[in-house]
Amino acid sequence: MIRNKLFYNLNTVNSGFTEFQKKQALLVDQKGSIVWTGPQSVALKKFKATPTVDLKNKNILPAFVECHTHSVFAGSRSDEFELRNSGVSYLEIAQRGGGILSTMKQTRATSHSQLLQQAKQRVDRFIDQGVATIEVKSGYALDLKHEIKMLEVIKDISGLYPLKTAPKIVSTFLGAHAKPPEFSSYSEYLNFLAEKVLPVVKKKKLSQRVDIFIEKNFFEVSEAEVFLKKASALGFHLTIHANQMSLSGGAELALKLNSKSADHVIHLTDEAITQFAKSKTVAVLLPAADLYMKCAYPPARKLIDRGARVALATDFNPGSCPTQDLSLVGLLARLEMKMSLPEVFKAYTINAALALGVEDEIGSLAVAKQASFISTEADLSDFFYSAGAMPEHDLFIRGNKVLKASKTRK
Ligand code: NIG
Ligand code: FE
Repeated sequence: MIRNKLFYNLNTVNSGFTEFQKKQALLVDQKGSIVWTGPQSVALKKFKATPTVDLKNKNILPAFVECHTHSVFAGSRSDEFELRNSGVSYLEIAQRGGGILSTMKQTRATSHSQLLQQAKQRVDRFIDQGVATIEVKSGYALDLKHEIKMLEVIKDISGLYPLKTAPKIVSTFLGAHAKPPEFSSYSEYLNFLAEKVLPVVKKKKLSQRVDIFIEKNFFEVSEAEVFLKKASALGFHLTIHANQMSLSGGAELALKLNSKSADHVIHLTDEAITQFAKSKTVAVLLPAADLYMKCAYPPARKLIDRGARVALATDFNPGSCPTQDLSLVGLLARLEMKMSLPEVFKAYTINAALALGVEDEIGSLAVAKQASFISTEADLSDFFYSAGAMPEHDLFIRGNKVLKASKTRK
């Protein structure tokens, strides 16, 4: 008979990430769900017959949730970085057929198995940093056949891992990332996505979330609203790339349509900040992309001080953010956005889970959630401090210790 496991001798943070509770225990069932939490003195008496795992007084955190990535793509755009540095803007590069459309060409031309192999290596790099849940978007194919190929790649990633320690992959349909050359108008393309692509995505159960890039020279608010309402009517959850380069109105639309999240949100009016605080829409901040794009950082302090929910993510993609480094994201959040360390932990765990709508499953160590956690001898103040270095730690996914991907890779 497979038994429950009792993890004991752990120091846990409470949900606000402000104070430690020492000598705690977690009872985990055979499916990897937490069934009981409390002091180890109580647990060791109450669950006498249960096999135990001694975590030796280590600090325990919920595993990180990386809630915004474009981890499936082919090719590199490192040449564009040199161009941007010489003064050519992201929008100009896009108008010359570079940017998203250049990745589109390469992604369409790359097979499922090659894309999958590359995506697995990227997911490995997130897992090595203590991440157990990763969101991955489509959006580099922009036609029916290859967008479905991308979503199938995303779906197949977790199957490449041992069942017991597979990461949770959350898939997002981002067909509305840019207009492909086959369409002459943006609204015609959105219409095609809503009528011909979304029903297939739904039927094949490839994603439950729809994203769109609302920006000058990309999709406009009014046409995006029509598209997102159709997506919502089909049962998709919404998220928006919003207010990254201008006051595009994307954030306001996210709030109006009760989107799970509005991401980037660098340019926000005072009124929009207040509205975030009144809503359940999570503001997902992507400061590593802001570093690469040399733009302003979002108003994290104002959002948090007014009571908005703020999450952090890398936005890993081949154009505006070619790094997967969580330590850099957290460091920028602290240094440039003046987020406190507990706010950064919260933004990378429970608030990121809220942004993905999976807060009942992950994001904190509570009964009925997955026992996915980081255990470390390091002080919490050593996290999000040294760029490029996550403190030594072990990652457990659903109660099972994960072997470092970098150690198992050939
Ligand atoms: O989140 N802003 C739009 N999408 C991505 C960039 C994609 C790309 O440049 O390939 C982002 O920054
Ligand atoms: Fe993005």
